[in-house]
Amino acid sequence: MAISIKINKTPQSRVHLVDFDNIQFGTIFSDHMFRVDYKDGEWKDAQILPYGDISLAPSLSALHYGQAIFEGMKAFKNPEGGAQLFRPTENLHRLNISAKRMAMPELPENIFMEGLKQLIKLDEKWIPTKIGSALYIRPFMFATDDFVGVRPSKTFSFIIFTCPVNSYYPKPIKVLVEEKYVRAFDGGIGSVKAAGNYGSSMLPTQEAQQKGFDQIIWTDGREHEYVEESGTTNLFFVLGDKVLTPNLDGTILQGVTRNSCIKILKEKGFTVEERKISMKEIVEAYDNGLLKDAFGTGTAAIIARIAGFNYKGKEYILPPIEEREISNLLYDTLGGIYTSQMEDKFNWIVKI
Ligand code: COI
Repeated sequence: MAISIKINKTPQSRVHLVDFDNIQFGTIFSDHMFRVDYKDGEWKDAQILPYGDISLAPSLSALHYGQAIFEGMKAFKNPEGGAQLFRPTENLHRLNISAKRMAMPELPENIFMEGLKQLIKLDEKWIPTKIGSALYIRPFMFATDDFVGVRPSKTFSFIIFTCPVNSYYPKPIKVLVEEKYVRAFDGGIGSVKAAGNYGSSMLPTQEAQQKGFDQIIWTDGREHEYVEESGTTNLFFVLGDKVLTPNLDGTILQGVTRNSCIKILKEKGFTVEERKISMKEIVEAYDNGLLKDAFGTGTAAIIARIAGFNYKGKEYILPPIEEREISNLLYDTLGGIYTSQMEDKFNWIVKI
């Protein structure tokens, strides 16, 4: 069903002020945002308005109790100059899984897709075209009740804003295998994109960065033995001729890029195993010269090659980037599909 969106355009676009060759991730915001509010059991007042501050009550429940979820997506330009999205309904699907877990209302597909398409169309001049760059899209939902008691909010806002970005990681990353802190536990919220998952990762990541690492690799909460995900990506390891990634056991985010990489690799005939991966197995493979590649996958990071990792105080250095058959193949294939320079065999692209 078509929805009606009230549009209030900015009187003066800021796009001409942007130096698209020098963008730091997440610092520049395009002209408009989409907003829809939930009240009395329904989503209403869909609008597109200039990007800018929003007014919030000090007692806003999202700020106190973290009833807040988000998504990450991207828009690209195709060779004809048209704007397009990559698997947007997968993000909506995950948003609604997160909403359910956090006792928040689901967002109907027509509101999400119509708001998203109209927003991207309006700000399509903000989509960068350099290889590796894109218009990053941040949909998010938060509880807005002006109430301090602990119970699910009755009102919510859903907003989408966008920002032109280059690569999240400009170079391969050095990671620390985390053995003190825990990201998620069985029955918790590790598999959904809840704001609190990221808030609780700040201190462990900061401590790792102070030691010279770019990121951490989370391990399971029971034994700190099985790898889970990094602070910003899902993880893949290439052991011999097998590609391994941790299975979605309830503590790991269901990454859209993760799922796309598995599909691409299987279609190309590679063996991909989704299962528990122990640090013992990774270290043994390394010692036997079988650890060929390790990388993170995510919307923002796309493919983040792991240059090396530290485990129990020992440094492990991975092969040079030119030798990384799998991560290079995935980076090139995803980039080709994103921008329609390669065949979209899976029908992932949605043109606007
Ligand atoms: C994304 O990849 O879109 C994410 O949401 C990760 C974020 C921490 C940048």
